[in-house]
Amino acid sequence: MPAFATKLAERWRRRYWRASPMAPSDEGLTPFTVITGGSRGIGKALAVEFANAGHHVIIVARGKEQLEAARSDIMEATGARVETLSLDITNSDAVAQIDRRLTKLDGFVDIIVNNAAIGLAGPFSEHDDRSVRYLCDLNVSAPTVLMRHYLPGMLARGRGGVLNIASLGGLVPGPYQAAYYASKAYIISLTEAVAHETAGRGVRISVLAPGPVKTAFHKAMGAGSSYYLKFHGVMSVEKIARSGYRGFVWGQTLNVPGFLHKMNAIALRLLPHTLTVPIVGWLLKRR
Ligand SMILES: NC(=O)c1ccc[n+]([C@@H]2O[C@H](COP(=O)([O-])OP(=O)(O)OC[C@H]3O[C@@H](n4cnc5c(N)ncnc54)[C@H](OP(=O)(O)O)[C@@H]3O)[C@@H](O)[C@H]2O)c1
Repeated sequence: MPAFATKLAERWRRRYWRASPMAPSDEGLTPFTVITGGSRGIGKALAVEFANAGHHVIIVARGKEQLEAARSDIMEATGARVETLSLDITNSDAVAQIDRRLTKLDGFVDIIVNNAAIGLAGPFSEHDDRSVRYLCDLNVSAPTVLMRHYLPGMLARGRGGVLNIASLGGLVPGPYQAAYYASKAYIISLTEAVAHETAGRGVRISVLAPGPVKTAFHKAMGAGSSYYLKFHGVMSVEKIARSGYRGFVWGQTLNVPGFLHKMNAIALRLLPHTLTVPIVGWLLKRR
């Protein structure tokens, strides 16, 4: 984008923003982009995009070894500064742990990318209570709490933002992945609503809703041979991350990467659920 267009877009994004004397001072602190689930898959590819664009990145995940390996890969690919935080973001003190890390680094959360999530495949009635609760904690509660916690600071600064990772599945109920699809519908709804509330106040609030992506995600939930992976175009993490980053920078609220998936998204919003839900159920059923 030419410099004058970037300036114009920035002015538009901050049209209602006014500096507040009550705002905490971030002078001398480093702005960080915190990416949950940044140790592999889409999160790692997003970390590469942000790092390539000059952001200081902190990748968060549970597995220490994979985190350190991802850090080396991203630093080698981009030459940027990358920090890691080994943390289960469903822990009740997750926000406090992120804050502590930022204090140690003399930084603040400029951008949060809520990417970590799990899927659950199979009939809803057959899941165990613990798995369903964990899915809700990870896919719904954790991103909501992180977004709520860091948004006031972003609004006070009139910069930064939130990139939430949902799914094309968030646009339709998903039999045989019912809780996962419902969790992504929540993320889309939350993001679109908050984007409206904060429009013109300097922050970017965006949700990325990819169709199937080539990662270990599907196999991990036991859906590796479901028909949706055969009949849907499966995209690469690099393409998804490039689109996600670009959409975020341009201030796109809902971003569905890929032409066919965009068409799918329009169809899912227009067609009645009586028609789409049985088709989606057939695609998602475990084979
Ligand atoms: N793959 C797809 O087809 C697809 C399509 C649409 C949307 N999405 C969405 O894209 C996002 C990423 O998916 P992906 O396919 O890249 O997944 P993935 O390959 O399974 O990676 C998940 C990442 O999240 C981390 N993670 C899992 N549980 C965590 C926890 N409790 N606390 C902190 N980190 C945790 C994992 O590391 P640890 O296990 O070490 O913690 C890993 O870094 C998810 O929101 C998913 O719903 C995926």
